[in-house]
Amino acid sequence: MRQRTKDVHENGFSDHVLVCTNDRDSGYACCAEAHGQEVYEAVKSWLRERGIFWSRVHVAETSCLGLCSAEGTAIAIHPRNQWYSDVVPEEVPELLEGEFGADGAQLSIKRDDVSVSDHENMTEP
Ligand code: FES
Repeated sequence: MRQRTKDVHENGFSDHVLVCTNDRDSGYACCAEAHGQEVYEAVKSWLRERGIFWSRVHVAETSCLGLCSAEGTAIAIHPRNQWYSDVVPEEVPELLEGEFGADGAQLSIKRDDVSVSDHENMTEP
């Protein structure tokens, strides 16, 4: 086992977007059947277009986030502790602009309990 927190911080990590692509073989709704993969690709594209994909913002497919819906995909963004459900690909730009700003510059901001300046200090290695 290797402790890699310092490496991730030194690479400039700010936020982690988790996109549910969970599939299940049952009658319950799941994100795989509600645009999960398309939403995941839309998130990556939006971040790539702003040059923040993976260097600052990590993106991962995840299993069930507990917000299952037949209408769209679930997304969680941490450490800002924001949760969405029913996301369709066309809504991804609006969602990410709301979180990160149109140019993707509003990174690493926990809206409810940490100011921008406080959190900028937290991102320094
Ligand atoms: S299957 Fe995606 S939130 Fe449950």
